[in-house]
Amino acid sequence: MSQSETAGLYPPTAEQAARAHADKETYDAMYAASIADPDAFWGEHGKRVDWIKPYSKVKNTSFAPGSIDIKWYEDGTLNVAANCVDRHLKDRGNQTAIIWEPDEASDEAQHITYQQLHAHVCKFANVLKEMGVSKGDRVVIYMPMIPQAAYAMLACARIGAIHSIVFAGFSPDALGARVNACGAKVVITSDGAPRGGRVTNLKDNVNQALRDDFNEVKCLVVKRTGQQIAWRDGLDFWLHEMEENVSNDCPPEEVAAEDPLFVLYTSGSTGQPKGVVHSTGGYLVYAAMTHQYTFDYHDGDIFWCTADVGWVTGHSYIVYGPLANGATTVMFEGVPTYPDAGRFWAVCEKHKVNQFYTAPTAIRALMGQGNSFVEKYDLSDIKVLGTVGEPINPEAWNWYNDVVGKGRAPIVDTWWQTETGGHLLTPLPGATATKPGSATLPFFGIQPVILEPTTGAELTDTAAEGVLCIKDSWPGQMRTVWGDHDRFEKTYFADYKNYYFTGDGCRRDEDGYYWITGRVDDVINVSGHRMGTAEVESALVAHSKVAESAVVGYPHEIKGQGIYAYVTLMNGVEPSDELRKELETWVRSEIGPIAKPDLIQWAPGLPKTRSGKIMRRILRKIAEDDFGSLGDTSTLADPSVVEDLIENRMNRG
Ligand code: WTA
Repeated sequence: MSQSETAGLYPPTAEQAARAHADKETYDAMYAASIADPDAFWGEHGKRVDWIKPYSKVKNTSFAPGSIDIKWYEDGTLNVAANCVDRHLKDRGNQTAIIWEPDEASDEAQHITYQQLHAHVCKFANVLKEMGVSKGDRVVIYMPMIPQAAYAMLACARIGAIHSIVFAGFSPDALGARVNACGAKVVITSDGAPRGGRVTNLKDNVNQALRDDFNEVKCLVVKRTGQQIAWRDGLDFWLHEMEENVSNDCPPEEVAAEDPLFVLYTSGSTGQPKGVVHSTGGYLVYAAMTHQYTFDYHDGDIFWCTADVGWVTGHSYIVYGPLANGATTVMFEGVPTYPDAGRFWAVCEKHKVNQFYTAPTAIRALMGQGNSFVEKYDLSDIKVLGTVGEPINPEAWNWYNDVVGKGRAPIVDTWWQTETGGHLLTPLPGATATKPGSATLPFFGIQPVILEPTTGAELTDTAAEGVLCIKDSWPGQMRTVWGDHDRFEKTYFADYKNYYFTGDGCRRDEDGYYWITGRVDDVINVSGHRMGTAEVESALVAHSKVAESAVVGYPHEIKGQGIYAYVTLMNGVEPSDELRKELETWVRSEIGPIAKPDLIQWAPGLPKTRSGKIMRRILRKIAEDDFGSLGDTSTLADPSVVEDLIENRMNRG
């Protein structure tokens, strides 16, 4: 091990720097230019996208209280599908655009060329038109990880419709709420979704979600499993049947840069999930540019992001970023541990993956299965390894680096959010010396600041710790909350005036490197999935036997954070293991399996202030098994409840 490695610093090798789009010098120069003159910088880099009508204005943004307004390339027009498909036909029509790897390892993978992708997207788009979808309409996509999910996204983009993907693991109720919230005309789904050898009955879920009050919402069904499904006559359509009657030709719609490309619902600290709205022009520029630089993507590389298209990572780094760059992108239907814990590495070997991007939770889970699952496979094509979704602990980082990357592949720990559209803090493989656990330095155009949490003062010393905010806009930034611009302003710009507030805590070290310390609001991060504690609480209290509940996160070895629920039962209801199971099943059916509490503690009372506010700080400490430092409990209405909660805590080693 070299000296710098023992010091925890991993600089790129000379060879990595030489082959990269940016070495350190280039990064420094480009970063400085992007901050000194954002108009010039983004004016230049906006050209990576083909515009129908070129923009004359680049940046027009305001974080000023009362007038939050974000516009990039506002007078330009373009079409995202034309950028992700059509423009590649001339030079790479026969190159594979999508490699699809099915759930069953024994089933054959599919290679879809750009030419074939074009035909699929055009037909799909014509089917949507046939069903009455036009520019500005919303379409919900509730799909397994099959190529048709990407076709559906691009088909919407082609006709200027706005898609809203709902992760296929969400329950019918959660799906219905999102269909309703964005006013979708059509839901696209499949009969079933195979995953890890089991099948989720997606069409049944759609039927349940749309059972009342949705008599107008049509459903387009992709045949994946061939299983029996219930049909809503007059409202349901098979994709393959509809495609028989439409043409291959579908000219791309001219769309304004600021028109929404998609809405994606994500959890916040309060209330219902919010619809994050992303733009067409700025988003595409940012997704494409980050994909190229962060992963050091070069023509001919095979890129694999293991996320689901139901999350923002799948939007930006399975579909839009890679395809805008003419890449070959891998789409995987299954899970990392099926048929065994070697699946990721088997797929990397089989498709000669060059850049591999996954979540720390998967790395930790696979690390726990031992090295033999990795060592069986030839991973010598891997040039860059990425992580996203939550802080990566140094142990997992080191395993990823040593066992998967054999010390040859730089790790890019990318920090970003649904709201940011693409990476904001990340190393670049040929430029940045990495430190295990740090998302390192800002991407071009990003000005991170650390604020003192209570005063909001900007901490200007290099070494600092506080809340992470961003000082100025970037093209991939979300534009608004669907239907509620006020909520956009309140959530992201009200606590700290003139800054975008990320909701994350952060430390900056003496080298200026950023270390995310986790959410400072009531959002928890379970297996890299973002979950609002309020959502789980409202699901629990919707159960007839539950009087009250408070949900917090606690450290979980594999998931990063686990869900810890304190539950107060209705008078006269006795706690039991059966009831615990019943509540777990209940939350699964209300929200989805990802929201199932890991630990449920029966709480005769919750710690509240005299004004009735639940003291979550105390509940977090107890859940973390760190009740020695509860702080001041004297302001509680009934301090004795704390004793009981500690006595009966669940998380004992
Ligand atoms: C967390 C996922 C540490 C963070 C793209 C953020 C991370 C939230 C990292 C957004 C990382 C994401 N290191 N924490 N590299 N990446 N996070 O919206 O708390 O699902 O605010 O977007 O995940 O989650 P979201």
